Amino acid sequence: MKDLLRTEDLSPADVELLLDTAADFAKQPLRSTNALANRTVAIYMTKPSTRTRLASETAVAHLGGTPIFIRGDDLQIGRGETIADTAKVISGFASALIIRTYAQADVDELGLHASIPVINALTDADHPTQLLADWLTIREVFGKDVAGRKFTYVGDGNNMAHAWLTMGAIMGAHVVVATPPDKWAPAAIAVATAQAIAAKTGAKIEVLNDPEAAAKDASVLYTDVWMSMGDPEIEREEKLKALSPFAVTPELMSLTAKDGIFLHCLPAHRGEEVSAEVIDGPRSHIWREAYHRRTTIQAILYHLVRGELKGNY
Ligand code: CP
Ligand code: NVA
Repeated sequence: MKDLLRTEDLSPADVELLLDTAADFAKQPLRSTNALANRTVAIYMTKPSTRTRLASETAVAHLGGTPIFIRGDDLQIGRGETIADTAKVISGFASALIIRTYAQADVDELGLHASIPVINALTDADHPTQLLADWLTIREVFGKDVAGRKFTYVGDGNNMAHAWLTMGAIMGAHVVVATPPDKWAPAAIAVATAQAIAAKTGAKIEVLNDPEAAAKDASVLYTDVWMSMGDPEIEREEKLKALSPFAVTPELMSLTAKDGIFLHCLPAHRGEEVSAEVIDGPRSHIWREAYHRRTTIQAILYHLVRGELKGNY
């Protein structure tokens, strides 16, 4: 496996390895300062980022390398240079490329033409690095055994919903996603991908429109913003109205399992997708989850650059 372009690229064994290594990097951040010594990693982002940028730059530094941050309009891509040419040039300098942008197809194309590992740091369709941080946080709370537990996401059927389904399938878990029907439901292709993986791992996938049924007895209740980066502003009012029954309120949280926790990839909008009482309350693990963005990206870089991930072929 050269790249991490999509969550589904990871095999269950890859995820095991990455989570174990990330747990080590949580205890000993400077365990492998030679891994990227005297090397650079390009981080190219055409959308804003707080966590992923900070986590990526810190991860590269902890591996002994130097991050080169490139903002969206800095490259000649904006003046017509092709993605293929850009990928080949970056491959001549950096040891890996971390990319955040809109179209998944652009990330796939970079992966195709770059000779170095390309890592998807969020597209409109997926957010694989986030899911590793989420699952490391889940493991710290509940351990490795997912049997008898339910892992629920409620809200917009966006990149996070897609990644949640796919990673839950890889983990062999009972995963539930509840969204409004139709327009803001997860993409059919993402559901089909998760179901195909679930058929191999024994995971159970449920896609619902009922937030209360989804939250009932869940070990994890997860949500994300209702307006993602790039969503058309013109749809805001209609979308927020459709999503309002999916807000994670204290009432919805009270339906979860006794030991149920709240997670959110952040940034959050208190009073929109989640109440302040929930996200700032005792069952919320958001700060540990955000912290693990660095430990998991450090693990991804470490193993991808060494060619140690097998991939889901
Ligand atoms: N969760 C996450 O990806 O955060 P940023 O958008 O701040 O990177
Ligand atoms: N769905 C959100 C996730 C942010 C980390 C977005 O794409 O903006």
